[in-house]
Amino acid sequence: MITNGSRVEQPAMNETSAPVLAVEDLTVEVPVDRIWRPVVEQVSFSVRKGETLGLVGESGSGKTMTSLAVMGLLSRNSARIAHGSIRLTGQELVGAGRRQLDQLRGDRIAMIFQEPMTSLNPSMKIGEQIVEAVRRHRPVSRAEARRRAVEVLDLVGVPSAASRVNSYPHEFSGGMRQRAMIAMSLACDPDVLIADEPTTALDVTIQAQILDLLRQMRDELGLALLFITHSMGVVADICDRVAVMYHGQVVEQADADDLFERPRHPYTEGLLRAMPTLVVREGRLPLIPGRPPQATMRPTGCAFSPRCPYRIAACTEVPPALFSTGDTGVTRCIRPGLPLQGAT
Ligand SMILES: Nc1ncnc2c1ncn2[C@@H]1O[C@H](COP(=O)(O)OP(=O)(O)O)[C@@H](O)[C@H]1O
Ligand SMILES: [Mg+2]
Repeated sequence: MITNGSRVEQPAMNETSAPVLAVEDLTVEVPVDRIWRPVVEQVSFSVRKGETLGLVGESGSGKTMTSLAVMGLLSRNSARIAHGSIRLTGQELVGAGRRQLDQLRGDRIAMIFQEPMTSLNPSMKIGEQIVEAVRRHRPVSRAEARRRAVEVLDLVGVPSAASRVNSYPHEFSGGMRQRAMIAMSLACDPDVLIADEPTTALDVTIQAQILDLLRQMRDELGLALLFITHSMGVVADICDRVAVMYHGQVVEQADADDLFERPRHPYTEGLLRAMPTLVVREGRLPLIPGRPPQATMRPTGCAFSPRCPYRIAACTEVPPALFSTGDTGVTRCIRPGLPLQGAT
């Protein structure tokens, strides 16, 4: 039976404040045997000031390609935005010139990565790197930029910032390097911070400290935080809203509390079941059976259907549209009223 649920074009939005970042119907393609094929398709989400949106999904689901598109960092010959809109406080970034994107990046919108050395130059003192980042966007003296460098290192909890500003990245521990990268990203006081798996390479204690720091920065600076992770545990820790990605598409989006309490997409349910706390409870790892299809292959019906325990014939025939699941939620499942078993 195909149940209720009204079809919607975009995720419904809570109207309390206008989004700082609004992505609509974004499709990103890569060339495979000289034919452009989508690896991100019809992705829509928005993030408000002071809010954290989690973008969650297995490796290869299109999270990084989505964030690189938002940053204007897709490399020209190996990926392209084929469709959609990316607006930063109302300003359209799709189709914007390279100079304009260079101006915005690091100033209004910044990104941190899993590996701090992606952003930090190993042969340059940390303070110098922050000074350069500030002066790229602000007409300030070296002395002023240096004061800013000490200020942001202090802000992110680097002890003795006034002297550590003269250290090289290799003189910092992994956790401190991550703090330095966060400091550099915040130096120009951005509106949006994209964090792409920023704690994945860190041990659990440091991971918790960095999550605390990002939460604190979001609240104190009013950042719109787009937090990318493959871990539902991390999502539970930091996100207000969640967009779940599978095979290049957002398959479910909801407030974090709702999503954990009542997942509406079978893939979300699978991710919740795979959370480590449940492993302890159940004594086994309830992995989702099967593998996602190759990113550039288009299955006929729902991309998750081969792995879905709730599959019916129609699932393999038509690609599912987004159905609304209440005030703010959407699911890309033709059975939105399906009572899933939940994570517990
Ligand atoms: N230039 C490319 N050519 C072909 N496939 C690509 C290219 N770049 C990325 N992909 C594929 O796009 C998919 C999405 O990648 P990515 O956004 O990095 O995933 P995630 O960050 O969720 O792990 C992956 O399956 C990846 O192999
Ligand atoms: Mg990635």
